[in-house]
Amino acid sequence: MGQKGREIVKMNVDELIGMLNKALSDEWLAYYQYWVGAKVVKGPMKDAVIAELTLHATEELSHAELIATRIVQLGGIPVLSPEEWLKITGCGYDAPIDPNVEKVLEQNIKGEQCAIKVYSHLLDLTREGDHVTYNIILTILSQEVEHEEDLDALREDLEMMLARRQQ
Ligand SMILES: [Fe+2]
Ligand SMILES: [Fe+2]
Repeated sequence: MGQKGREIVKMNVDELIGMLNKALSDEWLAYYQYWVGAKVVKGPMKDAVIAELTLHATEELSHAELIATRIVQLGGIPVLSPEEWLKITGCGYDAPIDPNVEKVLEQNIKGEQCAIKVYSHLLDLTREGDHVTYNIILTILSQEVEHEEDLDALREDLEMMLARRQQ
């Protein structure tokens, strides 16, 4: 990173890079969880759910892109091996072993809630110390909030539809 770019970061850069690498691992795992979830999901409203999961997968990948670019700018190295993802992840990985739509939605909602928590914390940490990272995290956090909202809306539609069927 250029000298001026470095000077304006007023926090421990190594610690920041460490936290960003954790988030980067979360994003790759979230990407795959959505991507493979879209391939296996079964049940009512399957098509709408597949479309949403696929869109989210793309957006998680774009988050990974944003974070990796910032890590490099800060003079760090983005996680080089997938083995590291599971070791340093903050939000983990929930394999869609049960492909039922309700279960897959629930797993991904849980993942989004974790992401929202992680990024809110990162926002607090960078607010004073690194405005560039702050801005990137704010963009990502806004999308994670949308993701949770979208999945929640799908779950609600599904519940209403199932309730109507039973009448
Ligand atoms: Fe994300
Ligand atoms: Fe997300």
